[in-house]
Amino acid sequence: MNDRLIGEDVLARVSSRIQEVVSEVQRIFIGPREIPELMMVTLLARGHVLLEGVPGVAKTTLCKAFAATLGCSFRRIQFTPDLLPADITGTYVLSPREGTFQLREGPIFANVVLGDEINRAPAKTQSALLEAMQEQQTTIEGDTRPLPSPFIVLATQNPVEQAGTYPLPEAQIDRFLMRLIIGYPSASDEKGILRRFTTAQPALRALLSPQDILSVQELVMSVHVEEELYDYVVKLSQFTRQHTRLFLGASPRASLALINAARARALAAGRPFVIPDDVKALAVPVLAHRLVLTPEAEMEGTQRDAIVRQALEQVAHRREARA
Ligand SMILES: Nc1ncnc2c1ncn2[C@@H]1O[C@H](COP(=O)(O)OP(=O)(O)OP(=O)(O)O)[C@@H](O)[C@H]1O
Ligand SMILES: [Mg+2]
Repeated sequence: MNDRLIGEDVLARVSSRIQEVVSEVQRIFIGPREIPELMMVTLLARGHVLLEGVPGVAKTTLCKAFAATLGCSFRRIQFTPDLLPADITGTYVLSPREGTFQLREGPIFANVVLGDEINRAPAKTQSALLEAMQEQQTTIEGDTRPLPSPFIVLATQNPVEQAGTYPLPEAQIDRFLMRLIIGYPSASDEKGILRRFTTAQPALRALLSPQDILSVQELVMSVHVEEELYDYVVKLSQFTRQHTRLFLGASPRASLALINAARARALAAGRPFVIPDDVKALAVPVLAHRLVLTPEAEMEGTQRDAIVRQALEQVAHRREARA
């Protein structure tokens, strides 16, 4: 043991607050608890989320509910074919009284940014958002400005290939810590949606503050990872790199993302150390969207998450880190 574990009282308090946020989101979003839970994990691991789903499955509703409970500044950017990079980052406008140019900050200057229907804008506009995600800063007419902290982008996209959409390039998809697929609700959840929405929508409480989130993000870095679990993650990524159906496997950035997300998941569960289950539960949402199939595999309809599941079946983590 090479480091101090986080105290029991801190763990209990942090994990119960995280669970409270998830429950609050579920007052609006009726569906698998796992979805808002994974969004929390992404936030705590300082990542960004891509939500994918057909129209009308509550992607936008979910993001707005999530933002409302965090107690952070929130802006929504609706991506359209005519959206320009400056519509995201901001522009200098002439202030007639002073006769000088003043920066009018774009919607990227918020703690939580919803990039709605991100594949509806052309590449140049997408990259204004994606650069900001990677560097937590943005460049406006040559001036570099830091973005607020914490900073998370929640992007949504429709998986159905439609006329007038611009698929995100591989290099940019890699900027998202997780991709979450929102499917159709179960019959009983759908009935719940119908029943609940005849009454007024509940107003959500802000349960956290930017400072709270920053301190939990800090704590995530103190979550302990056994040597064997580093090996496990490396072996999973290597498995994808050697896979014959893949043109591009998981990058070191992907391995790092998986470890950091596993740390955040452990903390959310009130554990000061990562267990193999953290890695297993996160492998598909963290890795699958980054893989690039060979053209043949693509034509045969191979699924990228099936390859990640295959890696989980075939790669052994030598023994359980802790009983
Ligand atoms: N699982 C759900 N829980 C709560 N409300 C839901 C759910 N699924 C759908 N709804 C309701 O359906 C409507 C559509 O939701 P929303 O606009 O968020 O969908 P969307 O996925 O963003 O669609 P689009 O891709 O067209 O933008 C909203 O009124 C929302 O409240
Ligand atoms: Mg929407």
